[in-house]
Amino acid sequence: MSDIPNTLSAVCGAGESSHQLIHSVIVEWLRREVSPLIERVDHDASLFGLGIDSMGAASIGSQLEHETGKKLNPDVLYELETINELAEYLDGIQLSRRPVVTAECAEPRGDDHRSAAPASPSCGNGLMARYERLNRRVRSLKERKLYFFEPVISEHDGAWVVAEGQRMLMLGSYEYLGLLGHPHLKKRAVETIERFGTGHHGVRLLAGTTTVHRNLEKKLADFVGAEDAIVYSSGYVTNLATISTLVGPGDVVIGDRWNHASIVDGCRMSGADFLEFAHNDVQSLAEQLEKADGAKTLVVVDAVFSMDGDIMDLPATVDLCKRFGALLMVDEAHSLGVLGKTGRGVQEHFGLHPDDIDVKMGTLSKALAGCGGFVAGREELTTYLRHHARGYIFSGALPAGQASVAIAALEVLEREPELVARLQQNTHRYLAGLKSLGFDTAASVTPIVPIMTRTDGIALEMTRLCRSEGLLVIPVCYPAVPMDAPRLRTCVSAIQTPDDIDFALEVLTRAGKQTGLIA
Ligand SMILES: Cc1ncc(COP(=O)(O)O)c(C=O)c1O
Repeated sequence: MSDIPNTLSAVCGAGESSHQLIHSVIVEWLRREVSPLIERVDHDASLFGLGIDSMGAASIGSQLEHETGKKLNPDVLYELETINELAEYLDGIQLSRRPVVTAECAEPRGDDHRSAAPASPSCGNGLMARYERLNRRVRSLKERKLYFFEPVISEHDGAWVVAEGQRMLMLGSYEYLGLLGHPHLKKRAVETIERFGTGHHGVRLLAGTTTVHRNLEKKLADFVGAEDAIVYSSGYVTNLATISTLVGPGDVVIGDRWNHASIVDGCRMSGADFLEFAHNDVQSLAEQLEKADGAKTLVVVDAVFSMDGDIMDLPATVDLCKRFGALLMVDEAHSLGVLGKTGRGVQEHFGLHPDDIDVKMGTLSKALAGCGGFVAGREELTTYLRHHARGYIFSGALPAGQASVAIAALEVLEREPELVARLQQNTHRYLAGLKSLGFDTAASVTPIVPIMTRTDGIALEMTRLCRSEGLLVIPVCYPAVPMDAPRLRTCVSAIQTPDDIDFALEVLTRAGKQTGLIA
């Protein structure tokens, strides 16, 4: 925030009341949070550049709501960059929540942030202005050396990588079992590519299916205790294609509020009435099931939540779905290979019956060290999906080489269940270490361990400090997580040694003390 005074100016475009109101709310916030000496802000200055993070935007937004009595959309507030843009948005609400747009410019949701874009002479220009806002943010972060997305990895060596030219311990990977460089997986991939080539002959339903795909589907079904499985080319596509096929207009789909974006997108795409319940709150789920009022209903939840590392209360969810006659779909992206004695996931963890989960979704891209996604369940279900899921029918097959990687990973997991035990031991050592140091790890009980940082600024500074000492951590801020919950998202792997974990704890301790996150 050292550059903040430079971005302030004596210019105050007085005259319009919403401009003045916004100006005074922002200056009040800056005085409180940044410096009591701040008096004025340029109406065209980037609020982000002034150091107003997502929580600042939330606080300013709620103050504006209080002052004006208007309901503001937090996503819009976060996107708008200057006092002038905010004023335009605020005035727009007063005049009309649905400004008239030409057919060419029309966006799907008339009252969302897109309609708040400044009026522009042409559609193209208006769109480019929106993209430019994000570009300015990215440039500003890069200039301040606070841009941490897409660190480029040039070498991979067990738990360690060379990223951005520096050797670092990887603490941000979903590669839970350490199979990414496993000789068995690599050998299988090479053999299969030699046999079938690098790609495919097309979509699965036409000419893209090989014996390897069928073997993988059989193996996955056996592994999770289902009749059959269907494999898609990515986990994201799996959720999108499956949910939007299983329910449609006139049906109801209900999801946990913290579900992964691919689930949310699938629910929205389905056209079914989409209801959400409070995170991991079965009472709230029951209320939504009541609301569904007898409609054909799908409930969809993550088994382990990807940003928080907590586990869904599946036994209670199963009971409720049975009581209300709803179909239950569970995303096992972060529980397969992770939960249960043998890594069979959430079903094994809770000792559920194989039939308790109707639609078992998983990815091949995390513990299985490959790429792709799958759904396992009754054969009627997989047959229906094969003939209706557009992401399956209209997208090229997962290459056979990748399918063989997942088979090989499952073979290793069956042969070496001790990998799962090692992952669980590492998780315990790491989590206990963080807690004893005074870090807030939210409700995590799995290898996904958030370190809550209170502000975006601390998340970024912690990341900078850790990476400078050779620890690759990932900052996560709004909109990936709620505005008031920025964090480092760290992940444990079975391949890390006790020394690796101690190293991570030492670096985090120094960074935590330097940023004031821990005493
Ligand atoms: C819970 C969850 N589901 C689905 C996906 C999508 O999987 P993939 O990365 O294999 O496309 C992810 C990815 O991170 C995830 O976390």
